[in-house]
Amino acid sequence: MEYRAQSSRYEQMQYRRCGKSGIKLPEISLGLWHNFGYVDRYDTSRDIVLKAFDRGITHFDLANNYGPPPGSAEENFGRMMQNDLHPYRDEMLISTKAGYLMWPGPYGEWGSKKYLVSSLDQSLKRMKLDYVDIFYSHRPDPETPLEETMAALDLVVRQGKALYAGISNYPADVTHRAADILKEMGTPCIIHQPVYNMFNRWTEDGLMEVLEQDGLGCITFSPLAQGLLTDRYLHGIPADSRVGKQTGFLNEDRVNQMLPQIIKLNGIAVKRGQSLAQMAIAWLLKDKRVTSVLIGASSVRQLENNLGALENKQFSQEELTAIGLVLEGK
Ligand SMILES: NC(=O)c1ccc[n+]([C@@H]2O[C@H](COP(=O)([O-])OP(=O)(O)OC[C@H]3O[C@@H](n4cnc5c(N)ncnc54)[C@H](OP(=O)(O)O)[C@@H]3O)[C@@H](O)[C@H]2O)c1
Repeated sequence: MEYRAQSSRYEQMQYRRCGKSGIKLPEISLGLWHNFGYVDRYDTSRDIVLKAFDRGITHFDLANNYGPPPGSAEENFGRMMQNDLHPYRDEMLISTKAGYLMWPGPYGEWGSKKYLVSSLDQSLKRMKLDYVDIFYSHRPDPETPLEETMAALDLVVRQGKALYAGISNYPADVTHRAADILKEMGTPCIIHQPVYNMFNRWTEDGLMEVLEQDGLGCITFSPLAQGLLTDRYLHGIPADSRVGKQTGFLNEDRVNQMLPQIIKLNGIAVKRGQSLAQMAIAWLLKDKRVTSVLIGASSVRQLENNLGALENKQFSQEELTAIGLVLEGK
């Protein structure tokens, strides 16, 4: 059926400025790492993406290797762009990345200019786009000079293949150097994409300060710790879950290890009148330096549940203390 976007799509969502750039991101963005590859049902993937856009999610995050198989999330998304979302391209912020293994030989991963530039060309073809809004270096490369990786980002922006440059998984000190290099080149780095959630708080150890000082936005990935910070595993391992399907890095041992804390956090969420997923998202958004929370979802129901987080982003001091104690293992 022909898709027409909801006319009410901008009524509920709030948008935050991305660092010192000209663009704003929705408080919740959608990532296509899992659940959008050829192994997944196309109709479900499409329903999630279109529902997201209908609810004011303007930002969709991809990478060359998302699938499986690698590249297939971009191809599926390209099909949606061509068939459904084409009229709305100017209302959307689409990002992709290169850094992890994509093709064999010495030029198929990491941070060389050779790899980054060819990878973006491939991504544009798969997504049937003339340009992406943000192009990321997906991970720091310990061997390639940082100047070369940043020069690749600067080049694709100058070529118009990407509008903005970003970095992901870079530690605080390298982030500061990368931002300096790009600033010098006249192509500011506008955004960092780190993992950040209640169970992984490494960003609080210096990175957030660097981002604020250097004027970068922050989009936090795996905000639900890949599903741990939800009610998904409260009563065992569902066969259709990320752990049940065994398609990723999350496994049963990790679920068992975290379950006591998950149960306690769920109790706090219930008292707040929220699902655990909603509380985990709200907990990130309480920090104004977080520009957007980058969620994943395997169903429209999950997406809608996550959007419900925006109805209560306030925490009392008692709630924060209670959450803090659980996270300390008390
Ligand atoms: N830059 C990087 O290196 C990097 C790395 C990882 C991710 N990312 C980005 O971040 C995005 C999000 O990552 P993620 O998928 O790990 O995020 P996440 O939001 O932490 O986890 C998403 C998973 O949680 C479960 N879930 C979501 N909402 C739920 C709800 N309301 N109730 C119950 N379960 C719920 C679903 O698991 P089930 O599938 O089991 O239903 C879903 O697939 C990715 O798509 C990607 O764009 C970037």
